[in-house]
Amino acid sequence: MAVLVRLTSIYERVGFDVSTGLNPTHVYGEPVAPFTYLLKDGEIWKAAAGIAVQELYFLEALAEAWQPRHVLIVGNAFGWSAVAMAMIFPRARILAIDAAASEGIDLTNRIAANEGLDNLLAVQASSPGDIAQLAASHAHQTAWDLLFIDGEHSKEQAAVDFAAIRPHADPEALWLFHDAISFSYLDAVERLGEKSGLVFQPLWRTPSGIAALVPQSLVTSVAPVLHAFAGSEQAFRHMRRLGRFGAGERLLSGLRCPEI
Ligand SMILES: C[S@@+](CC[C@H](N)C(=O)[O-])C[C@H]1O[C@@H](n2cnc3c(N)ncnc32)[C@H](O)[C@@H]1O
Repeated sequence: MAVLVRLTSIYERVGFDVSTGLNPTHVYGEPVAPFTYLLKDGEIWKAAAGIAVQELYFLEALAEAWQPRHVLIVGNAFGWSAVAMAMIFPRARILAIDAAASEGIDLTNRIAANEGLDNLLAVQASSPGDIAQLAASHAHQTAWDLLFIDGEHSKEQAAVDFAAIRPHADPEALWLFHDAISFSYLDAVERLGEKSGLVFQPLWRTPSGIAALVPQSLVTSVAPVLHAFAGSEQAFRHMRRLGRFGAGERLLSGLRCPEI
């Protein structure tokens, strides 16, 4: 079953209404509409957003090409990406951390227990400060080989997270930096790739603009998946020009938020 079907059902069963995958033009241009929010009693529960539907689909496609053994997620919020990855990568262990003392950690662990996801653990911890300790307690046998970096989104933090985690990660790990385009830190991820011999690939077709750093050993197996969620930079830049100079505006004028 598609992970979106299972995920939405899980969060609804614990009492949330879920908003995800909306088209911004349907909600007065709200740019965060594609991302995931939980609602309780008609209000957004916690400000942080979970990954978008297309990003779940990307992870599912990735799982068909390659299965990690140990995933570290920096930035858990309410566990949307962590629960998803526990189901998408059933043979991997998933450790999700969040700096906030939050009900999100408890919620994630409760869902893991309810759903029999014994490969998932969420803990309150911060990157970079707690990484060495976490590696000693959780990654001494199996190094992290998929890093999903989705905490504070900035050039500086990308470098700090990478420097803290890399010594404890598998040298052949795949790195995914969420929001690299939306938060303008694509160039910082590219520099990390250059310095460490990892292949840099922005995923233009993901709503947040995920940036991947890929070890040479994985390039052949994951390239078709990355390409499907990247396309060409030329096509992406063409659409940006359309948006910037108005052709897209004319094209979309008939699709403005309808009165309903
Ligand atoms: C965008 S949300 C994560 C969403 C989550 N990955 C998902 O898709 O379901 C970002 C989270 O990162 C946490 N965070 C920010 N800086 C952090 C850090 N340095 N270490 C750990 N967590 C951090 C915030 O508390 C927030 O809950």
